[in-house]
Formats: sequence, C-alpha cells, structure tokens
Amino acid sequence: MIFALETSCDETAAAAITPEGHILASVVASQADLHARYGGVVPEVASRRHLELVVPVVGEALEHAGASLADVERVAVTRGPGLVGALLVGLAAAKALAWSRRLPLVPVDHLHGHVASLYLRPDPVDPPFTCLLASGGHTLLLDVHDRSGFTVIGTTLDDAAGEAFDKGARLLGLGYPGGAAIDRLARDGDPEAYALPVSRVPGLDFSFSGVKTSLLYAVRDLDAAELERRRADLAASYQRAIVRALVDGVRRSGADRVAVVGGVAANSELRAALADAALAPLALCGDNAAMIASAGRYVEAVPHRRYGALDAYAAAI
Ligand code: KG4
Ligand code: ZN
Repeated sequence: MIFALETSCDETAAAAITPEGHILASVVASQADLHARYGGVVPEVASRRHLELVVPVVGEALEHAGASLADVERVAVTRGPGLVGALLVGLAAAKALAWSRRLPLVPVDHLHGHVASLYLRPDPVDPPFTCLLASGGHTLLLDVHDRSGFTVIGTTLDDAAGEAFDKGARLLGLGYPGGAAIDRLARDGDPEAYALPVSRVPGLDFSFSGVKTSLLYAVRDLDAAELERRRADLAASYQRAIVRALVDGVRRSGADRVAVVGGVAANSELRAALADAALAPLALCGDNAAMIASAGRYVEAVPHRRYGALDAYAAAI
C-alpha cells in the first residue's frame, strides 16, 4: 500500500491507499479550533501542533487500515506549497518512515494532490479535463491532460476564493474558518438582497479583493442589531457573488469537461451551480492525505538514501 502524510497548513493528515486507488484509511486531525481565537492560522502554532499530532495520526491511520509499517510499499508526502515550518514536520516524519524500511519517498505537490482527489475509487475521473481548484490558498483553473500533472491557465490576482470566504466570515462575526459557516447561514438568507459585485479581470484570472471590500462597506453601514437581522442575507449575497465569479471563470474557459476540487468545492451553492462537473467527494475537498497518496502514484519516487536532503517549498512552483 501507499502511505501518505499531509501537513501543509492546519490539518495533520495521514492516509493509506491501495495502488489501484482504494482508500484504506484517511485520518485528518484539524487544528482549526486552536487557531480560531487568532482569526487565522498562526504558522508557528501550526508547526508545533503538527509535531504533537503526527505520530498519533500515523498510528491511527495504520490501525484504521488494519496494517502495519511492514505493509507500506512507498511513502508519499506533501513537499509544498504551504507553511514551510508545517511542511517540514510532515516531510521529516515521512523521511523517517521511508528510511526505516529503506522505501522510496514520493514528494507530492499539494495542488497536484487536490487534483488527484479525483483519481481515487470508487468513481475515478479520467483526464483530460479543465479543473477549478478553489481552496484557502489558491484559486486556479488548470488544464489537466494526464494524471501526472497540469498546466495553469488561470489564477487569482489577489485573494483566493476560500480566503475571501474566510475574510467575509470574519466581517460577519462567524469565526474561523468561515467558508462552511457562510454556506450554512446562506441557506436562511436572500442571495439577491445585496449587490456585491466581483471584479471581472481579463482572460481566465480571478479577483476577490473587491467583493470583500463591498461586504466591508455593507457591514459598516449597519448597527449591531441590523447586522444581526441581515447577517443571513449578507452571507447569501456574498456567497452568490463568489460562486458566480467561479462559475463565470469556468464558463469562459470554454471547457466541456470540468472538474472541481479544493476546500471551496465543498460549497453547496457551487456544487449545485456546477452539477454537471466532476465534483471531488465531500470528504476529499478539504486538505487530506488520501489525495496526496493518490498523486503519489503518478510522480517519480526518490530512491532510498537520495531523499535525505529533500527540502520543502513555500510557494507554488
Ligand atoms: O483545501 P483546503 O482545506 O486548504 C487549502 O489548501 O487552502 O481549503 C480550505 C478553505 C477554507 O478557506 C475554507 O473556508 C473553505 O476551504 N471551505 C469552504 C467550505 N468548506 C471549506 N468554502 C465555502 N463553502 C464551504 N462549504
Ligand atoms: Zn489544500
């Protein structure tokens, strides 16, 4: 089996899959509660928590898979992009696991991992397709020609869609991370109550900083009681604006086969708006290690001994 670790942000995750892409175990320990009081992920706090969680999470994943380290044939790990201190914890742990059994190590790009969430069973999606990857850190349109990679054809010029959800949630007093909270609250609101336009940028790129500012102005005009009364309308209107921009980007690409992955792919309005697309399974939208194991099947492994000095990278390459 393939065993994978993912520690790029605030989820400590380990998973085991078969070479064919059946998930044997996928454990995700979220640190969200730990960071909530700061309104966002504090990198140093995240690294320290990964250190505490990584060994128990590995143990739990092996237990769920009914397996031991002796069953592992290759180890995959997220190398970047992400928080470097957080990535290094997963990378060091994965090196140790691989080294102790003289196994190869597969360094996986986190974005490739999100796309590879589509290659897992029971319903794998085959390239070619155009993929919308919308998460807390990225908003990308990708041309996916085969399972080993992708070409970026569009990106955000400022905030990522998930970041826009999180910042909006903060303005609405919904806590961190806020995407799921906005999604829930929006169900009770009127999406047409407020016009919160999203800036159109040329080509296939996105921009979300403007819509956040329009929400800020709308919220600033309300006193506490009014905000309480209009919160669901604001959430629904804000969500509508972000979803429209994402769907618009997908339509402009002219793609006929579309897939959607990343944390924001869990959004119910986006899923309904792109119902014809291949949607990542809900459990695999947010960061997890099963998607890293999946990508690890299509990336060249670094043989035993050669990965000692393998480093993490913070920004997309
Ligand atoms: O992929 P992910 O777990 O981490 C990154 O790689 O960034 O994405 C996390 C992002 C957060 O911004 C979170 O608010 C957003 O995904 N998110 C959602 C929903 N669930 C998570 N955004 C909108 N609606 C949701 N239901
Ligand atoms: Zn992610």
